Amino acid sequence: EKVILAYSGGLDTTTIIPWLKENYDYDVICVCIDVGQGQEIDGLEERALSSGASKLYIDDVTEEFVQNYVYPTMKAGAVYEDKYLLGTSIARPLIAQRLVHYALLENAVAICHGATGKGNDQVRFELTINALAPHLQIIAPWRIWDIKSREDSINYCLQHDIKLNMNKETSYSRDRNLWHISHEGLELEDPSIEPDYSKILQLTNTLEDAPNEAEYVEIEFEKGIPVKLDGKALNGTDMISELNKIGGKHAIGIIDLVENRVVGMKSRGVYETPGGTILYRAHQELEHLCLDKQTYSYKQTLAIKYAELVYSGEWFTPLREALEAFVDSTQETVTGVVKLKLYKGNMISAGATSPYSLYNEEIASFTTGDLYDHKDAEGFIRLFGLPLRVRALMKEKK
Ligand code: ARG
Ligand code: SIN
Repeated sequence: EKVILAYSGGLDTTTIIPWLKENYDYDVICVCIDVGQGQEIDGLEERALSSGASKLYIDDVTEEFVQNYVYPTMKAGAVYEDKYLLGTSIARPLIAQRLVHYALLENAVAICHGATGKGNDQVRFELTINALAPHLQIIAPWRIWDIKSREDSINYCLQHDIKLNMNKETSYSRDRNLWHISHEGLELEDPSIEPDYSKILQLTNTLEDAPNEAEYVEIEFEKGIPVKLDGKALNGTDMISELNKIGGKHAIGIIDLVENRVVGMKSRGVYETPGGTILYRAHQELEHLCLDKQTYSYKQTLAIKYAELVYSGEWFTPLREALEAFVDSTQETVTGVVKLKLYKGNMISAGATSPYSLYNEEIASFTTGDLYDHKDAEGFIRLFGLPLRVRALMKEKK
């Protein structure tokens, strides 16, 4: 019988291979899902096979990640707890969906993942597997084995004659993909401590190192989707890579957050989402121009719910899918060009245009025109203020 292992090539997932063989006697098929983490693919197969796996699949789904997970979440304006752009949360359902694909292809009986028993990732992986292939058994070694540290892992591998050439130094717990990188652990576990950004940051400059000159970016959207950067048409992967470079240079999109995990505890993390932060902002500027008041307001409310669903791993649910349909309907007119000025961690609006703009200069300017008569305002305010006058009269009588 076969098991599909979500394989990254790191120490943890490499340790799982001999552990699975020892405890389950399964044929271990490793699957490495590439969501733009920019890792070394070289040597990955050799490491998996020499650790006892019978096969390694490498699956690049970066563009699918952008089109079907990043952009829908961005269009929804979904931000978890007012700060987190959900970089890890949106990658998990796609990774799990691909694991299910290989499980069915190989006729495997189980899927194994390396998420710990304390985190969100286990929830996201397993809810997705539940939704797509409920017959599959799920194995989460961190909830079973006695391995507690990197030293334990290294020793376990040595006992099983597996050669590792990995550095022994412990670092932050990081998760990276095209959209973001997260950092947790070490001194970040104490929220009273200021993060040592010069040590932590991977995608972005520190504010101090960002250039002293501002830079402009111009993003063109079509129905809520960014299609051109500074006049150049780019696919999703290139769009985000380019924006990451520019945003990273100007120290855009660094956040430090104490968040509520699904499993009940609070945890503290630092996130870098340079390109994503620019995109969210540019997209929002365009919505300010193109959406009517009620739609904008309703969409704001839904964005919170959308973010909670995504954070909790409820991607493949009827509600998230219905919300996506609502969002897409609102995006019909979110087409146009937005210019932003980037400067030392700041984004400053520098103009936006759209063929669907609802901004009407004629009405907004101070001269009276055909569409708007100042005199109409008097009657409007009398009716709008009626409840206030009624209440004031009631109070006067007392
Ligand atoms: N706290 C973030 C989230 O739940 C990041 C998790 C990072 N995962 C990891 N395996 N290091 O989305
Ligand atoms: C983990 O525990 O596997 C990483 C952190 C998280 O999932 O929230």
